[in-house]
Amino acid sequence: MSEPDDTAGAAPVRIGEAAPDFLARSTEGMVRLSDYRGRWLVFFSHPGDFTPVCTSEFIDLARAHERFAALGCSLLGHSVDSLFSHLGWIRLIRDETGVVVPFPIVEDVGLSIARRFGMLAADAASAASVRATYFIDPDGIVRAQICYPASVGRSVEEMLRLVAALQQTAGGDRLAPSGWQPGGKTLALPPMTAAEVLASETGKPWLCSGRAE
Ligand code: BEZ
Repeated sequence: MSEPDDTAGAAPVRIGEAAPDFLARSTEGMVRLSDYRGRWLVFFSHPGDFTPVCTSEFIDLARAHERFAALGCSLLGHSVDSLFSHLGWIRLIRDETGVVVPFPIVEDVGLSIARRFGMLAADAASAASVRATYFIDPDGIVRAQICYPASVGRSVEEMLRLVAALQQTAGGDRLAPSGWQPGGKTLALPPMTAAEVLASETGKPWLCSGRAE
């Protein structure tokens, strides 16, 4: 029950753009993406309900739900399956594993959301979306995205790390180095002008190990 699809051929969403708004049915009632304004949001698609890798991701995300909440971050799932498929799947997950999926999953049988975000693989043999994940800030801007094929499950630890890193660097004056972890040191911005580089302490700002704060 997504809104009408006038988006065929739309360019994929890019970092720095506003996430396209939508209104869709979900396992927790109607969901409008813009209702998440004011919070961080991880919006993630999966290729199909009742499939093994997707199920493993949902169990891990459900178990990590409180850790996302502690970052002020909501979770919102998506697939091109129907609402009734989503409902049957979360019931099965609960019955078989005891894990309750504590976040909504939107349906997208018309593919309007998948097309608008660019979730469909170029070589897709079916309408199934890739494992696209959008990290959306409280102003509704996509700040990062990761995209995996159907064959490889995502790392929930990396999703948590990325949310925390985006939050730490959101002011634009700090950087998160390779392997940064919450509580770890962030880096100052490198000099951007001749005057700044000549005034810098080491003259080697790319050797950032000594500049972490
Ligand atoms: C899976 O999540 O296991 C899966 C999804 C799509 C195709 C094949 C496997």
